[in-house]
Amino acid sequence: MTISQFIYTKDTYNIKEGFTNWSSPSNIALVKYWGKKENQIPENASISFTLDACKTITKLTYKKREVISDDFSFDVIFEGKSNESFKSKIETFFKRIEVYSPFLKAYHLTIETSNTFPHSSGIASSASGMSALALCVMSMEKQFNPNVSESFFIQKASFLARLGSGSACRSLEGDLVVWGNHKNIEGSSDLFGVKYPHEVHQNFKNYHDTILLVDKGEKQVSSTVGHNLMYNHPFAQQRFKQAEDNITRLKTILKSGDLKQFIALIESEALTLHAMMMTSMPYFILMKPNTLEIINKIWAFRKETNLNIGFTLDAGANVHILYPENEAKQIYEFISTELVAYCQNGHYICDRIGFGAKQL
Ligand code: DP6
Repeated sequence: MTISQFIYTKDTYNIKEGFTNWSSPSNIALVKYWGKKENQIPENASISFTLDACKTITKLTYKKREVISDDFSFDVIFEGKSNESFKSKIETFFKRIEVYSPFLKAYHLTIETSNTFPHSSGIASSASGMSALALCVMSMEKQFNPNVSESFFIQKASFLARLGSGSACRSLEGDLVVWGNHKNIEGSSDLFGVKYPHEVHQNFKNYHDTILLVDKGEKQVSSTVGHNLMYNHPFAQQRFKQAEDNITRLKTILKSGDLKQFIALIESEALTLHAMMMTSMPYFILMKPNTLEIINKIWAFRKETNLNIGFTLDAGANVHILYPENEAKQIYEFISTELVAYCQNGHYICDRIGFGAKQL
């Protein structure tokens, strides 16, 4: 599918007002997206588990403007209060999607949004936030053009979400989503996320992700800056190739259900992501001492018990602990007695693999 197929051409919008409401989850990458080309095109394919509990809920209210001018007219209300910093991010998003959703300028928009996870928990809200907003924009489009098919709706919503934040295009569906063209993943595309189309072993059903909140502060380096530091990075090409190879390896693992190999792959991906940060110029470190304490504790516990506990990291200090349903009781016991002490104010979130966005 080419980009021109996402361009909206009708220019009369005969609906005066309306609203739409979506909830969309966050996701956690198993093979990471780190490095992009122009227009939010990833350097390598990535794959993620969709989460269930960590979500953004967004209501978009639209009202036809009396006089249409060449700007966007909108208000952003985050958790009950108007929010200027989100406003500028959303303005950038609207400008990027203008050609695909030109009707936005014909309306005054009110965006009311909130997260189910605590604000400033260090959890990326851009994936859930941008995907929820992209879905609201697509619901508006469907009002003007009711013939939009379900598959086009979800594909274009993912396409738009990608233009807001790359990882957001992997949040619409579940339970595994691939973004980025990959020779061994059927239907995969650089332009939008697709539901993982191959066989997945029972071991990965209902997989758990307990997120240990090690540092809830604002990150010193944003993902966008981090991605840009992959330009001219001495190890970039090798890293992009490794990610492509890891997707192929993961395909075999997902089919066989080999949890030891799964853990080795996701932990290597997490540490490689942070190694890229440490070897950028300028270099930076997002892990905190407690991130390393937790990793060492996990490794010691795994050695002692042979249980299938593994971790991954996103671009921050928090640790996502991944484990299968049939070992959840013992592993959760270990987390709550041994690891919570390393979390800021003892805070953590129990999440699990989920199935994507929902219209409310
Ligand atoms: C480390 O999607 O937040 O979480 O496209 O600039 O918004 P932008 O970046 P973003 O990057 C996510 C990076 C990551 C890995 C991943 O989710 O694949």
